[in-house]
Parts: sequence; C-alpha cells; structure tokens
Amino acid sequence: MPNIEEFIGDIFSEIGEAPDLLLQYLHAIQHEYSHVPEEAIQLLSERLKTPPMKINAVIDFYSFLHRTARGEYDIRFSDNITDRMLGNQLLFKSLCKKLGVEPDVPRADGKVTVSLTSCTGICDQGPAMLVNGLVVSKLTEKRIHKMVGRIEAGIPVANWPKSLFVVKDNIRRKDKLLNDDIIKGSAIGALAATGGEVMLERLENSGLRGRGGAGFGSGLKWRLCRETEADKHYVVCNADEGEPGTFKDRVLLNSYADELFEGMTVAAGIVGAKKGLLYLRREYLYMREALEKTLQERREAKLLGKKILGHKGFNFDIEIHMGAGAYICGEESALIESLEGKRGIPRDRPPFPVTCGYKNKPTALNNVETFVAAAKIAVFGADWYHSVGTSQSSGTKLLSISGDCERPGIYEYPFGVTIRQILVDCGASDTQAVQVSGAAGSTIPPQEFYRKIAFEDVSSGGSFMIFNQQRDLLKMVLNFARFFTHESCGFCTPCRVGGRLLNDLVEKVMVGYATRYDLKEMERIGQVMKKTAHCGLGSTAPNPILDTLAKFPGIYATRLHNTSHTPAFDMTKALDVSRLLTGREDEGAYVERTDEY
Ligand SMILES: Cc1cc2nc3c(=O)[nH]c(=O)nc-3n(C[C@H](O)[C@H](O)[C@H](O)COP(=O)(O)O)c2cc1C
Ligand code: SF4
Repeated sequence: MPNIEEFIGDIFSEIGEAPDLLLQYLHAIQHEYSHVPEEAIQLLSERLKTPPMKINAVIDFYSFLHRTARGEYDIRFSDNITDRMLGNQLLFKSLCKKLGVEPDVPRADGKVTVSLTSCTGICDQGPAMLVNGLVVSKLTEKRIHKMVGRIEAGIPVANWPKSLFVVKDNIRRKDKLLNDDIIKGSAIGALAATGGEVMLERLENSGLRGRGGAGFGSGLKWRLCRETEADKHYVVCNADEGEPGTFKDRVLLNSYADELFEGMTVAAGIVGAKKGLLYLRREYLYMREALEKTLQERREAKLLGKKILGHKGFNFDIEIHMGAGAYICGEESALIESLEGKRGIPRDRPPFPVTCGYKNKPTALNNVETFVAAAKIAVFGADWYHSVGTSQSSGTKLLSISGDCERPGIYEYPFGVTIRQILVDCGASDTQAVQVSGAAGSTIPPQEFYRKIAFEDVSSGGSFMIFNQQRDLLKMVLNFARFFTHESCGFCTPCRVGGRLLNDLVEKVMVGYATRYDLKEMERIGQVMKKTAHCGLGSTAPNPILDTLAKFPGIYATRLHNTSHTPAFDMTKALDVSRLLTGREDEGAYVERTDEY
C-alpha cells in the first residue's frame, strides 16, 4: 500500500486542490485502502483547512464511504423489491453463511464484507450485486457458490470471468429517441448555424419537458439560465438514477453517451457555460471508463474543449463526478451540494439552481434522457418531436420495466400510451398492481389500467414495476418504507420522524398487531409529511402507503387486530428484564407477539 501522504499528494496534483473536490478525494482514497483511514482524514483536514469533524460527517452521510476497512472483497446486494421477488434474500443468506460473515461486519480475517444496498438499477436482470463496484447480474446459487470459491482462493476480482460482469441494455421497444440516429457533432453544428436564440426557440417549440420526474419545461429552464447574468454558468447532468426500479439512464449512458454529451454541449452553447459536470451514481462506476473514453474522443474530434468545431469563443468541457450512494443526491439542490464536496442536504428553494446553482452560479441541470432528447431536437427540429405524444406531453418516454412480466427491459413509447398496452407488450398477465415512477410514484390498480403515461395523467420518471396477483403488496409497501427511512437525509422532522413512524406502523400491520386506529395514524402522518417536508423525498415518501390504503384496503384489513388499540412496540420483549427480576415465567407475564416477516 502506498504511503498515504504521498498518495494524497498525487491525487491533488492529478485533479487539483479544492474543498469542493472532497468527495472525489475520498473516493480515490477508499478505492486504494478499502476505507478512508484516520490518517487520511487528518491530512485532508490540514490541506483543505476543513475541520476533521466535517470530513467525518461527509463520509458518514454516504453509504459507499467508510471509516473502517471492508476488505479485499466489498459485496453489496441490491435490495429493491424486484430483487426480493427474484429471491435475493435466500441468496444473500446463503452467501453470508458460506463466507461465515454477519451482514455489514467485516470478516475476522478482514478479507470480505457483505451488505445490502438500495436498488442498483439492474432490476431487469436481477437479482444483482456489486463486487468492488462491478455488477454481477442474474445471481443464482451456482454463481454464489463459485464466487465463494474464488474469494476463498484469493483470486482478484479483475481475474474473475468477464462473462460474470455482463450487463445488457435489454432494449425491447424503440421509438423516435432511440431509433433516429444523429451524426456525431451534428447538433452542435445546428446550434452554430442557427445561433443560441433560435435553437432555444426550437427547444421551447418542441415542448420538451424534463425527464427526471418533475416535468419542468426544458426550454424555459435554459432561457432562465441564459438570461441570468453572471460571470459563469454551468451545465449539470443528473445521472444519479436512484429511484427504485429505474434503469433507463443506465442504458443511455452505456449506448447513447455521445448524444448525451452532445445535448450537454448544445445546452452550454445556449446558456453560455464553459464547464459541464456529469454526476454519476456510484452504482454505475463500472461505466466510468467508457464514458471518459467517449469524452476524450470528443475532445480529439474538437467537439469538446477550446474552439469547438473551430468556433472562436465556444469553449466547453465536461468532468465526471461520482456520487457515493445517497438517493437524496438525485434531488437537484442536494446533488449540487454533493458536487461541491458536501453532504447531500437539499437547499432552501428559491433560489432555484437555474439562477443560483453550482457554486451559486446559474446552472442548467437536467436528466440524462432530457439532454439526449435535446440533442436530437437540435438536429431534427421541434415538429419531429411533438409529432408524437399528447398536447401537454410531447415526444416519447423511456420506461424501465421490471417485476412480473415475461420481457423486462427498456421500452420507449410516445406519451399517451395506456398502462394496459404496456402490460400486453411486456408479457404481463394476472397483474394486481403497477408501481409507476418508483417508490415515490403511484400504485395503479387494474381498474385504472386505461390510464395514460403522460404528465397530465400518470407521470413517470421511468420506473414501471409490475406485481401479479400472487404477490403480497404489503411487502412492496414495507420495502419502500424502509428505503425512505434509510435514505432520508435527516434534515427535517416531518421526514426523519414521520418516515420512521410510518415504517414502524407498516411493520405493525405486517405482524398482525395493527388496528383501525393505526391505519388512521398512517393516513394522518402521511398527509403531514406531504404538506410539511422540506423536499420532494419527504413529500413523496408516503405515496405508496396512501395509495394502497385508498386503492388496496384489503392488504391492510385482512391483517388488522380485532381490538381498538395495541401498543406500537413488542411488550413481551420490553418486559424481558422485569420477568428476569421478578422471576415470573407464568402465562400472564407474556403478551404474545412474533415480529417475523
Ligand atoms: C428525492 C429525489 C430524487 C431524485 N432523483 C433524480 C434522479 O435520480 N435523476 C433525475 O434526473 N432527477 C431526479 N430528481 C429530480 C431532480 O430534482 C430534478 O428535478 C431533475 O434532475 C431535473 O432534470 P429534468 O428537468 O431534466 O427532469 C429527484 C428528485 C427528488 C426529490
Ligand atoms: S424531506 Fe427528508 S430528505 Fe428532504 S430535507 Fe427533509 S429529511 Fe432530508
């Protein structure tokens, strides 16, 4: 292992020395030492003039950063509900048993740590895991068995068979966006030919709305950014894709990276940015090398860097910044905090990033799919785009389809497609519910399958998870409640406390101890969170509970306890000490409760 001081010196000379690069330093250090050692924290603190406490707070905020070593093999099992439906729990237990480890605890010989992690974006090829950042998909008992053999034999992950690490695009349906190819550089050429104002009008006329979920008009966003006076402007691409069940950006990053960077460059030309940043979720680390290669090829082709395509004064380049496993960093202001090397705590808004974003400068921040669409609109024009879709939702939408269907994968549809049509196309039958737009989205029952995917009807960031009649929907609700409890940044009380209370109440329903009063409490807490949470995470977290309470009351009613009130905690466990002290073992000293689910 290299000397830490020298190692940090090398990183500083390679990527520069600035507090906003803290997260990137921590990634590099962890990659080398499998954690961030105390000595490194002290050295960073001295060089960046930042208190060690602040650095520790950043490390502790992100799931993929650690102050204790995880060993030569760092394994994280994806734990989305779709992984669970494919049997990840048994495989997880089996791996832990074979390796002789407890979850989250490094093995005594320091060789390996196994943990669960939030959705890794491989739901169409699950169950999936990450081993030292590489994806192993379609896990089976046989794969686990062989993996254990390689770990025990000390074979480095780099020498494991390449076939283990294949992630397919799985594109099942293409429409305008994925079908109509553009020549590399043609969108930038179109911008140079028309000028920024005309290109901006083209985007506005296309009706393109943000594909990250909120659906804000992209043309308007870029106009506000362009018209905000400042010495610097920035373009940021949100490739955090943490919403459970979403993996369409994974495919765009893998196979449409040129179009993405082209779209970012067009945005830069319009808003006047010289620097762009791609915020890539840590789970997609395995794509970084290829993305850097594409960036380098574009620099060589004069599509990035100084004097783009020979145009004096058109200078723009893109850097990749890695996230570190925090869903909240998909929220735009938290993402900017993270880019600035801090914990991803959402900012007060307004001001919005478009006028006061990265380094408090006007920032055009968009989703991967939005930039890809913008590049194509720049070439083919506004009419090409809004010739499909609905009046309020022009163009197409990529859906990541997973769960109970024969053909999971990526489907591109014009907006306005019905949920029923999608279910037919992907081979779903006997469907009990569809969860559209991830854990924060809507739970759609069969009587609403006539509804359309569109901003004015069922809006979607891209996730489409299918549950058949055999599934216990409450398990989905519990999986999402746990997800939100884990991913809450903790800044505001409605989300930090409300999320935990909801989680506990769902568990109470699960074990058969909830009453009608508890259901009313869930409804009340959910509404409080919706109205008072500081950001979108807290205001959408109760959605699956509120939706299922209203549309699937049976999953709760069949489990209710027949009294009007039961305690929120396990009385029997709580009375353990009292029984010990009083020596009571009679029936009356126990309140029966089994918290197994
Ligand atoms: C908790 C939370 C997570 C989010 N995650 C993402 C994400 O992973 N990717 C994304 O593009 N937008 C995400 N968003 C939406 C962003 O805040 C923002 O609206 C979006 O990136 C803007 O790009 P667009 O206009 O192209 O959609 C998230 C929002 C919230 C509240
Ligand atoms: S709503 Fe949740 S995630 Fe958002 S600021 Fe509050 S605690 Fe953080």
